[in-house]
Amino acid sequence: MKNYCILYILLCFLSCSKNEQIEKEVTNKSDEKYEKVINELLSKMTLEDKIGQTNLRGTSSRAKTLSEELKQQVREGKVGALLNVMKTEFVDELQKIAVEESPNKIPLIFARDVIHGFKTMFPIPLGMAASWDEDVARTSSRVAAIESSSVGIRWTFAPMLDIARDSRWGRIAESPGEDPYLASILGKAYVEGFQGDSLNDPTSIAACAKHYIGYGAAIGGRDYNTTIISKPLLHNVYLPPFESALNAKAATVMTAFNEINGIPATGNQYLLKDVLRDKLKFDGFVVSDWESTIEMIAHGYAKDEKHVAELAANAGLDMEMTSKAYENNLKTLIEEGKVSEDQLNEFVKNILRIKLRLGLFETPYRDATNEAKFYEKLHLEKAKEAAIKSTVMLKNKGVLPLAKTSKIALIGPMANAPLDQMGTWTFDGEKEKTITPLDAFKTANINYNYVAGLSHSRDLSKKEFKKSVAMARTSDVIVFVAGEEAILSGEAHSRASIDLPGTQENLIKALAKTGKPIVLVIMAGRPITITNIIDDVDAVLMSWHPGTMGGEALQEILFGLSEPQGRLPISWPKTAGQLPYFYNHKNTGRPANREDYVAMYDIPIGAWQSSLGNDSHYLDVGYTPHFPFGYGLGYTSFKYNKIEVSKDTIRFNEDIIINVTITNTGKRAGKEVVQLYVQDIVGSITRPVRELKGFQHITFEPGETKEVSFILSSNALKFTNHESVKAAEEGHFNVWIGPHSASGLKSTFYLKD
Ligand code: NOJ
Repeated sequence: MKNYCILYILLCFLSCSKNEQIEKEVTNKSDEKYEKVINELLSKMTLEDKIGQTNLRGTSSRAKTLSEELKQQVREGKVGALLNVMKTEFVDELQKIAVEESPNKIPLIFARDVIHGFKTMFPIPLGMAASWDEDVARTSSRVAAIESSSVGIRWTFAPMLDIARDSRWGRIAESPGEDPYLASILGKAYVEGFQGDSLNDPTSIAACAKHYIGYGAAIGGRDYNTTIISKPLLHNVYLPPFESALNAKAATVMTAFNEINGIPATGNQYLLKDVLRDKLKFDGFVVSDWESTIEMIAHGYAKDEKHVAELAANAGLDMEMTSKAYENNLKTLIEEGKVSEDQLNEFVKNILRIKLRLGLFETPYRDATNEAKFYEKLHLEKAKEAAIKSTVMLKNKGVLPLAKTSKIALIGPMANAPLDQMGTWTFDGEKEKTITPLDAFKTANINYNYVAGLSHSRDLSKKEFKKSVAMARTSDVIVFVAGEEAILSGEAHSRASIDLPGTQENLIKALAKTGKPIVLVIMAGRPITITNIIDDVDAVLMSWHPGTMGGEALQEILFGLSEPQGRLPISWPKTAGQLPYFYNHKNTGRPANREDYVAMYDIPIGAWQSSLGNDSHYLDVGYTPHFPFGYGLGYTSFKYNKIEVSKDTIRFNEDIIINVTITNTGKRAGKEVVQLYVQDIVGSITRPVRELKGFQHITFEPGETKEVSFILSSNALKFTNHESVKAAEEGHFNVWIGPHSASGLKSTFYLKD
């Protein structure tokens, strides 16, 4: 019964349409009320009290006792929020001290990195991005909020909205991929899920759009590296997902570790004031990343801790995470006139506003009705659905789906890796609750034999090769679950080579010699280059790090009970040497094409020096990725028949309708993610070769033909130029509707002023 109630609430949340007008009025009224409370409080606060609010203290989630020092700091009003307090009795005790004993009785906010689940783990965010499904994002963050708020957490450091174009970067696992349009849709949905209908609902947690900004542009994909981002690139590519999350009322924003064009994000006045406050009208608070304030010294931007505080405060950073530049220096800086008290007042107002919206002044403690609901049946079902929707089939030479009667050789270091399957940022997930492919095979009564072959993804030994090959020989099909351990992606875990680590490729090659078909399943935090082994395997499924229910999801896909539904949210490279690679690149003056491409081994020995091929490609790997953005196969096939535009010419502020007919040419019902791309052929600054402007999930019966229509607004054609003007420009546009970014039927239209 309880499950049905939750199902009902969840479904209502996902589907109920709101009366926006009423909602606006209610928000305005409570905001007016809040501003009054904030000003009253502020008038009573000393300088020290105000600085206390800007202080986010970190603790260890493994701490067995509460430190007296921390309690005293809270008592004195020196702490505004706490990170990683994971014992509910500690949460309650600290909150009691704050609201009963601290000078102004201001409640604390308790924060935690709840990134893709709290207990029930959903696929890593890059995996969820592969679902191209806002409901998956919204449901995952709703479930995470329900589970984590029950232990007192009211603030998460998610969603991560960094556009990532380089799979070497470890944090690509947490990202929404390479496309601003898709990332914007997902960003909004994540915020809606975390924050629920109202922030002051006990199951709502404040979202944090991070890392503001450009963190994914780290040069060479090396974590924390510097970035160079022009204003058009910032506004057209990196900013849209943040804009979308803020439109959905994300309560907080976190600054990034990186510098942008020479100025660290945490001390960047243009980004924090001109863009975030003035342009995007953000009225929540901005928190630094872990010590990203004092890291401005190592960046070579600040002289010392005091200078750090001055730079960050004047740039507009409201709250400092873990380091103490504000605590130790703000008072002196204000007394010396280097930072104004008005600036500090703004910080405190922004922080108190979110505390009020969270309802913490009325209900500072965990709500007794919000009891722990870990691993509820519905949560597990939703996690499984997300894993199915995220799985991308990259190759299938007719081997999938497997027949239920097939005898399977289940091999590979990720076939039974419950911890690694959860992926990065899973501090609270429990490996004991994870269903691995091996567990799922057991439960589903599959005819299989299992040998790990390699004990973990980096295993360099070959000692189980013989046993694996012998087992494969007596089987019909090999299911090899390869990949990388969770610890090989995520923060500080960038890789220069993104091949399968250890001796996984050797084992796959040894197994291929048996002549048995191989289904390669990859569990990893990033695309893995498989150029060396693609011809040795018959099918490839990318299941990312699929979370708690990954094993069941995979078993259903392998045996055709479910269809792999994911599409790549990122271009899949042939080799790391191609990176960064992204489909929405510019053309160059010498665009690559098949006719001109000269492959390295075709160049005559002793050839005369010339700009062979004359275009922009690599001699050894060409100019295309292994699999393009948007790509993914299902268990049926589709034919795109005819594209039509409603008008040849549209005016500014008009829409155009683009139609296509699609037929399911296979024998199974199936779902297609129909994608709309546009190219602005000539612009006042050069424009990408293609940009995603829409997509739809359409289900077809076998043989069914459907007409699919997209309405494209001329507003969607706007971009920001070098003068920071955002506008659409008159001219010709190409438009494609297709199954991925490197294909589709093409038409054109003209946009007229
Ligand atoms: C550093 C990470 O960059 C950030 O994403 C995370 O939220 C904080 N640490 C807090 O753990």
